[in-house]
Amino acid sequence: MNDYQKMRKIPITLVVLLILFNCLYSCADKTYNSETDIYRKVDSIMSLMTLNEKIGQTIMYSGDWNKTGPYVTSDNMKLLKEGNLGSMLNVYTSKGTKELQKIAVEETRLGIPLLFGYDVIHGFKTIFPINLGIASSWDLSDVEEVARISAEEASASGVHWTFAPMIDIARDPRWGRISEGSGEDVYLTSEITKSYVKGFQGDNLAHLNTILACAKHFVGYGAAQAGRDYHTVNMGDNELRNVYMPPFKAAIDSGVETFMTAFNELNGVPATANQYIFKDILRDEWGFNGFVVTDYTAINELVSHGYAKNEKHATELAINSAIDIDMMSGAYRRFLKELVSEGKVDEKLVNEACRRILVAKFKLGLFDDPYRYSNEQREKEIIYRPEFLESARKIASKSSVLLKNSDEALPLDKKQTIALIGPLVKDKKNILGNWAAAGDRNGKAISIFQGIKEYLDDKNILFAKGCDIDSNDSSGFSKAIQVVGKSDKVIMVLGEDYNMSGEAASRTNIKLPGIQTDLIKAIRDEFPDKKIILILMNGRPLDLTIEDSLVDTILEIWYPGTSGGLGVADILFGKYNPSAKLPITFPRNLGQVPIYYNVKNTGRPISIENPTEDYKSNYIDSPNTPLYPFGHGLSYTTFKYSEIELSKENISETEVLLASSTITNTGDYDGHEVAQLYIHDKVGSITRPVKELKGFKKIFLKKGESKTVTFEINSDNLKFYNNGKLTIESGEFEIAISGTSDFEFNKTFNLTLN
Ligand code: NOJ
Repeated sequence: MNDYQKMRKIPITLVVLLILFNCLYSCADKTYNSETDIYRKVDSIMSLMTLNEKIGQTIMYSGDWNKTGPYVTSDNMKLLKEGNLGSMLNVYTSKGTKELQKIAVEETRLGIPLLFGYDVIHGFKTIFPINLGIASSWDLSDVEEVARISAEEASASGVHWTFAPMIDIARDPRWGRISEGSGEDVYLTSEITKSYVKGFQGDNLAHLNTILACAKHFVGYGAAQAGRDYHTVNMGDNELRNVYMPPFKAAIDSGVETFMTAFNELNGVPATANQYIFKDILRDEWGFNGFVVTDYTAINELVSHGYAKNEKHATELAINSAIDIDMMSGAYRRFLKELVSEGKVDEKLVNEACRRILVAKFKLGLFDDPYRYSNEQREKEIIYRPEFLESARKIASKSSVLLKNSDEALPLDKKQTIALIGPLVKDKKNILGNWAAAGDRNGKAISIFQGIKEYLDDKNILFAKGCDIDSNDSSGFSKAIQVVGKSDKVIMVLGEDYNMSGEAASRTNIKLPGIQTDLIKAIRDEFPDKKIILILMNGRPLDLTIEDSLVDTILEIWYPGTSGGLGVADILFGKYNPSAKLPITFPRNLGQVPIYYNVKNTGRPISIENPTEDYKSNYIDSPNTPLYPFGHGLSYTTFKYSEIELSKENISETEVLLASSTITNTGDYDGHEVAQLYIHDKVGSITRPVKELKGFKKIFLKKGESKTVTFEINSDNLKFYNNGKLTIESGEFEIAISGTSDFEFNKTFNLTLN
């Protein structure tokens, strides 16, 4: 009798014991298994499994919802009872997950527990700002905190696995999913990735408050042509490896347990059947041994792509690319066994997939106690803990980027009368942003209006909606103008509907929707001297050229989440001095897109010193520069950077260069500053970007205070991929420390190879 048979010899007794110990287990954090122990136990289970049961582990279906909670369709229930369903998505609540788990454990031959996955993207019940907002904080401990709290809430609701972080580099604001990532930069996204993974998975997956993370979408999804979701991606290997892949490698280096395939094709081969990226790179080169899940129905889609003849062929292509879980296609269920018996698929591939999935279930402690994440008491205690809501408030403040603040229109004076204008002033639905599936879009969220009421007396608040987010009805303009006439300052809260970004929500127009800009114009025309503060809720960089010319202040709050109203009010009234910086470029117009800070030089102008000739790389109707550059973000105070100092002018490959600058708070408020380190590799065997972020530090300075920031630069910061090889090349590099990507280099160092 092997280990697993011993474990299951007296199933009823086992079940009783499990139930008895449930509370005990649920309350305790415990490390159940060592790695070798896990592999031994997995082998012992697998020796009892039929091919059907092994295939069952690779199958994932969604639960449905009715008024009482999650339920399972009759077809899926049949699969579940036969032991042919390994995991489910869109199922949560401790009660719902426990009921389904009970069927898997008590009614199937081997009693293998189910794995429950969910899109916990920027919070579970307590919703934080959207991910592009979180990235704007440039605060890695905040990112980790978001993931830790999300894991805590989700795990208390029966969820074992999040489909996050989404780490697709994106440089096209037309693409709706730009909102879900961390922006345009490879270094910033890679650092943020590590913090997300650490926050979700913690030190030990057997701890009750940690969940599996998933690096998605591998790979190139953010480079969809023309920003249209799911669209074709054509990209050379150098760009793939230097820009789009490093965040995924960072995820592996921080121990991520799972990967998700991308929907797009990459150079003619859809990602879900792409052996080059999944076998050659992910498995063989990077040695990833966690499991890979497809994106939703992505195996079926191989047929629509025109890559597979039919779904059976698609199944063969996906499993041969070492893709372990079939999310929603039903293809592995229908064709995998047949393909194995026909000799078209090596059974070894099914075994490997099954093994990887079971290993994850062991790591979560599900074989020791399948109900440990389904404890109603714990769920009640954890969801919406006051400290989580407080953290969401803090992070909403830290994610809001002050793009412009002429004549110190902000912060506000509590004695003034403020006109609050716009469709999003009282909003509690959009404020959570997209991908807040378990979030409460009605009662729990705190609107900007409510946040401001914490600071102002009712008599000092005037309100008019003015118009809707996206309509042509200007009948509310006159009331808005009337209200503004009675006020000292105007706050306008405008933006996009939350459904205008996210999956399948690409736009060909990145201006404010509807007649919102006309509303600003109408108010400005009537009151040329009144201070107008524009607060923006949106999921992508917008074209704000007109707004920038009309208003005094612009505060980009993205979608700030459940406690967003409070976090934003803290900024408006100076309780928090804004410190966020853009993780993405805001263009002047859509014609500049894609636009990002780390572009390459062209051959024109020929003379960089004398850039006056006619035939140069520019537009005849727009500057090349953006409206707001990557790394930009104002504070109520000002910071002065001293000239950069280097520990050496020449370094060898094994030496570390120290680069320092002293930063002084020269304004009237205490505040945080994000010091950014950029380099430029002047000549390379392939051309290198004009500047690249290679480090950042967020520091706090009291007014008048100075601090020196020092960065260490080693050979890893200077390497790049060329033709599949990570290379380092001798030569001259420019270097700078700055509070924005918009600066000129004036210091260099040389690298010589040993
Ligand atoms: C499709 C999305 O592309 C992916 O990011 C998400 O995790 C899955 N659906 C599951 O909801």
